[in-house]
Amino acid sequence: MKDAPRVDVAGCGWQYSRMDARTTWLVANWKMNGSAAAVRDWAVAVNAALVPLHPRLAVTFCPPAIYLEDARSVLPESPALQLGAQNCHHEVKGAFTGEISAAMLVDKGCHMVIVGHSECRNRGDCDNIVINKAKAAIDAGVMPLICVGESLADYEQQRTFAALDAQLVGIGGLDSSRFAIAYEPVWAIGTGRTPTVAQISAAHSHIKSVLGTGVNVLYGGSVNAGNIHEILALPDVSGALIGGASLEIQSMCALMQRAARAIEGK
Ligand code: PGA
Repeated sequence: MKDAPRVDVAGCGWQYSRMDARTTWLVANWKMNGSAAAVRDWAVAVNAALVPLHPRLAVTFCPPAIYLEDARSVLPESPALQLGAQNCHHEVKGAFTGEISAAMLVDKGCHMVIVGHSECRNRGDCDNIVINKAKAAIDAGVMPLICVGESLADYEQQRTFAALDAQLVGIGGLDSSRFAIAYEPVWAIGTGRTPTVAQISAAHSHIKSVLGTGVNVLYGGSVNAGNIHEILALPDVSGALIGGASLEIQSMCALMQRAARAIEGK
């Protein structure tokens, strides 16, 4: 692994060579969970398990920002496992107590940052702020993974596409090679409920019809080792954003194995 070349893909920071357009990404979002020791143990074990799996399978680990350095300290120089962050501020610097800029994330080795997660939107991140965060990330050289998704009410009233369109308006102005989208129905996050594969497929192709076919769209919301295969087997799905099922080493490794099998069949 030490000799694997690092390439700068689309100006989004130094990335491991697996990260080409055909790569399938598993993004582990730990939210506000874990400890320094748990982060180190997970990074070592998941990196080791990932290396022999499919060359087009990549994992991005998003621990709480305070533990990024703990993860980095145990990873080899050219890890299969990349680091990401759960959020950033939209300003470059200044009097924003408690906030972290995109450039700081790059400084700590992140290649990706999640923006617009529904849990952040619930705390006040409107579409405008989400776009500005994505712009700040792109300017700093870290790839924003922009989360979009309909509420339960929109889903029940069959307004999924309209809800997505409202969130996608500003994103359409960004360079589509510099960001990725996570389609996360709000009602599927942490609930154990998921849309049908036909609904996931329809939402992903709708997003691509708005933003361009070249955009990578990941699915998120109650992904686990039992459903990852059928989700990743869909042609318009470039990967998955995984919360709860990513926390335990065993469950993450099971998920990666199923993901590798799904890629083989693609
Ligand atoms: P979940 O979370 O996998 O626990 O549903 C996904 C997310 O919120 O990113």
